[in-house]
Amino acid sequence: AVSRPLVGKRVVVTSGPTREAIDPVRYLSNNSSGKQGHAIAKAAAEAGAEVVLVTGPVNLPDPVGVTVVHVESARDMLTAVEQALPATIAIFAAAVADWRVADVAGAKLKKGPAGPPSLAFVENPDILATVAKHPSKRPQLVVGFAAETEAVIDNARAKLARKGSDLIVANDVGVATGTFGGDANTVHIVSADGVETWARQSKDDVARALIALVAKRL
Ligand code: PMT
Repeated sequence: AVSRPLVGKRVVVTSGPTREAIDPVRYLSNNSSGKQGHAIAKAAAEAGAEVVLVTGPVNLPDPVGVTVVHVESARDMLTAVEQALPATIAIFAAAVADWRVADVAGAKLKKGPAGPPSLAFVENPDILATVAKHPSKRPQLVVGFAAETEAVIDNARAKLARKGSDLIVANDVGVATGTFGGDANTVHIVSADGVETWARQSKDDVARALIALVAKRL
């Protein structure tokens, strides 16, 4: 028998990259495939939860039994996440752009004698921090990720404190690891209790283990 510890609970999950427009036909983004976030949404649904998955553009089918909201930019993702609250659990696996272009061109940028354009950036809202510090709708359990290429644990500990989440799932995203886009992940679970490193496993298994852990901590 499958255990369904999240029956009656609402879970919000973010997944995939965001896209930040430069002009009508160009954008800035990253290599997130959505595999890890989508696997978490699927595992939460299998555990009985009512799941809302807010995802940036990915080449994955919508998981069965999950409400999927498709967005492009970080600001759109924040709006969709806020609309999905209240929830018991929120898990932020999306690779959200930290910055967006300050002045999006209304027409396609042209090559010309002035040479290449310079782009100025402004900071995007932090979706995880906004939800973790929400004055009235903070979920009971807030789980962030930390994508690092160096000092993985130290940087994850700093994110735990700065963003106000209960858990941080830290992973090394250096190119050699294949974490972005691959099917396996090595994660470190960082909380006030300390750090636990899980053996490398499939993203589906990471998702199932994370959902089991979260259900236990409720
Ligand atoms: O999609 P895959 O190809 O399967 O790859 C999975 C993954 C590497 C994308 C995933 O495991 C992962 O690490 N996701 C978080 C990526 C990230 O942007 O991490 P970060 O360290 O930059 O951000 C820290 C946390 O804040 C994350 O939970 C992030 O979702 C959240 N955040 C960041 C910026 C922002 N503006 N809003 C946010 O909510």
